[in-house]
Amino acid sequence: MIFSLAIALHVLSAVLWVGGMFFAYQVLRPVAAGLLEPPERLRLWSAVFSRFFPWVWAFVVLLPATGYWLIFGLYGGMGGVGLSVHLMQGLGWLMILLYMHLFFAPFRRLKEAVVTEQWPEAAKRLNQIRQLVGINLALGLIVVAVATGGRLYAA
Ligand code: HEM
Repeated sequence: MIFSLAIALHVLSAVLWVGGMFFAYQVLRPVAAGLLEPPERLRLWSAVFSRFFPWVWAFVVLLPATGYWLIFGLYGGMGGVGLSVHLMQGLGWLMILLYMHLFFAPFRRLKEAVVTEQWPEAAKRLNQIRQLVGINLALGLIVVAVATGGRLYAA
């Protein structure tokens, strides 16, 4: 039925967003830091984020849209869902707000600094993005654990 589509889109968005952050933070970051000099490394990250972030915009629209679709369409409103969904909703909005801040502040400045070859400024902005992605990755892992484990915990 139609709610199968909602939960599938919801979980696919979560998998791709959190998985993408895990790859960037845990795999690409140490390799790029070890192999590339600052100008190339900063150009790489500006290009990598420019490709990843349009996808993240889709995920941050789909996650709450499909989440509330399930809550109001299937579970009869906020009163019909358990603590794990309340936590997911709160932490999910925190993740979305952090992403929007990251996109409109440090990422925009990183791109400008890379184009104008202001490497110390670009490095400062990349460092801010690293911290924000680290926080969002940790939150994302917690949300997935709460969403999946929490549902069975209550059962
Ligand atoms: C932003 C607002 C969000 C709302 C309103 C929301 C709401 C929901 C709802 C209603 C369900 C179905 C629960 C059930 O059927 O038992 C669900 C499942 C799930 N959500 Fe969210 N969610 C949100 C954000 C997120 C985020 C940011 C993530 C991960 C990064 C996430 C990951 C998951 C996962 C993995 C499931 C599947 C749980 C399972 O079936 O075991 N959600 N969500």
